[in-house]
Amino acid sequence: MSIFKDDILAGRVALITGGGSGINFGIARALVAHGAKVALVSRTQEKLDKAAAELSPDGSQARGFAADVRDADALQAAIDQTVAAFGGIDILVNGAAGNFLAPAAQLSTNAFKSVMDIDTRGTFNAARLCFPHLCKSEHAVILNISATQAFMPTPLQAHPGAAKAAIDKLTEDLGLEWGPLGIRVVGIAPGGVEGTEGMKRLLPPGMEDKMKKALPLGRFTTTDEIGQVAVFLVSDAACYVTGATLVVDGASAMPLSGVFWGMMRGM
Ligand code: HXC
Repeated sequence: MSIFKDDILAGRVALITGGGSGINFGIARALVAHGAKVALVSRTQEKLDKAAAELSPDGSQARGFAADVRDADALQAAIDQTVAAFGGIDILVNGAAGNFLAPAAQLSTNAFKSVMDIDTRGTFNAARLCFPHLCKSEHAVILNISATQAFMPTPLQAHPGAAKAAIDKLTEDLGLEWGPLGIRVVGIAPGGVEGTEGMKRLLPPGMEDKMKKALPLGRFTTTDEIGQVAVFLVSDAACYVTGATLVVDGASAMPLSGVFWGMMRGM
């Protein structure tokens, strides 16, 4: 259910990295529901084909093109396929991300590098390679998916925290540099999102109900809710928003939020 008009993104093409599942698939679903055509890009073609078919059984509004965002040549090929299929790129959603819980003292240097490469370098790669196409669009926008770990120190999350903080900085710097060219650069920093692979990996088993009690709104957010925020940010309603990351976490990353609501709800 959306409060936005069905056709506010009609005629626009979005390339969504990590678009085959989770938050990014929720964003893809919301963009398609408002008229956009979407290219889903991630590592596994089979998974992408299934996701694209769910959004658009005849392929007219959604296609999947496999590429690892760490591999610039493969990413360029996926971008070329998107432009060949849909005629251009107006919206880039940088959603591809890697994550797992690990104490920094036990994290190998390669494990740290893997997450930085997928999240931060992947975001730069896609932005840089889509840049020539975005320059041709009258509605160009890059939406970077961050996380609250970027600004809220989080145990066992030094690697994605550093990667997402760097992404937020890219949102600011690219917003500044590319504003005059008509390209907006914005971000969303979600808190926990119900039912995603990320949450499955990060939530200690048996802790879900307790964690929800410690959240101000008493629940996690959903992929549909993040999708609605994405529709706003990539639409013309947000035409003066650039260089900024919107926190969509139900105030859960506020200092002492968990302690206060945990106590109030008798934990
Ligand atoms: C410690 C680990 C590890 C783990 C992998 N590594 N998993 N180290 N604990 N659980 C190490 C490996 O040992 C290796 O280091 C290095 O990371 C690279 O691993 P590879 O297996 O070679 O695979 P690679 O393709 O580079 O990527 C691995 C991966 C990725 C980063 C784990 O597969 C991944 O994250 N997939 C999940 C995708 C996902 O769930 N995305 C949503 C993220 S949620 P060595 O030294 O052995 O070579 C998110 C925001 C959450 O980002 C916000 C919630 C509030």
